[in-house]
Amino acid sequence: MNDAVSISTFHADDIETHLGELGELLSACVHDGASISFVLPFTRSESELFWSAKVLPAVRAGKLTLLVARHEGRIAGSVQLDHDTPPNQPHRAEVRKLLVHPNVRRRGIARLLMAELEQLTRRMGRHLITLDTRTGDKAEPLYASLGYATAGVIPGYCLDPIEDRLDSTTLMYKAL
Ligand SMILES: CC(C)(COP(=O)(O)OP(=O)(O)OC[C@H]1O[C@@H](n2cnc3c(N)ncnc32)[C@H](O)[C@@H]1OP(=O)(O)O)[C@@H](O)C(=O)NCCC(=O)NCCS
Repeated sequence: MNDAVSISTFHADDIETHLGELGELLSACVHDGASISFVLPFTRSESELFWSAKVLPAVRAGKLTLLVARHEGRIAGSVQLDHDTPPNQPHRAEVRKLLVHPNVRRRGIARLLMAELEQLTRRMGRHLITLDTRTGDKAEPLYASLGYATAGVIPGYCLDPIEDRLDSTTLMYKAL
């Protein structure tokens, strides 16, 4: 499977070109129940707007790097590295929105994206990665298996995307 997956850095013009597929990726993950900022109802145009209004300007400004995984020519996953850190944290970067399309999960795509993201972080001269993920989600064992340590849990942090309840978030970090 991994041989069929390629990872590349998407620039602003790549985001514009692939807005439909990126919108489909995010929308599919939210409708599958992922806790990644959004709640239902969540339309395709809202999904595309996230990429065009939030991600694209940050990528263009050099504040965010977007990695995209392709499988059989289609966008299968993505992850963002936010390196827009304050002056006292030049050594740190934050993982945002690790997404793998529900149709191609459990085939190592997230692992590949995170390996590439860590190499990228090192190349930037940064050596501390931080993230947060909903407590109990399948991403938690993934990050733990990649060497991320748990700093703590914040209860009642965010709304579930589908059900009327608040979920906790787990703060994690890895020193490279
Ligand atoms: C979390 C997510 C990115 C994993 O993507 P994936 O490509 O399926 O993950 P991988 O195949 O690389 O799996 C890596 C490891 O993650 C863990 N994992 C992934 N899916 C899991 C599941 N359903 N149950 C338990 N562990 C799981 C396992 O440790 C797995 O390793 P293994 O297959 O060797 O046991 C994907 O499920 C997803 O997009 N979820 C919705 C978005 C989200 O919640 N992102 C995290 C935001 S912080």
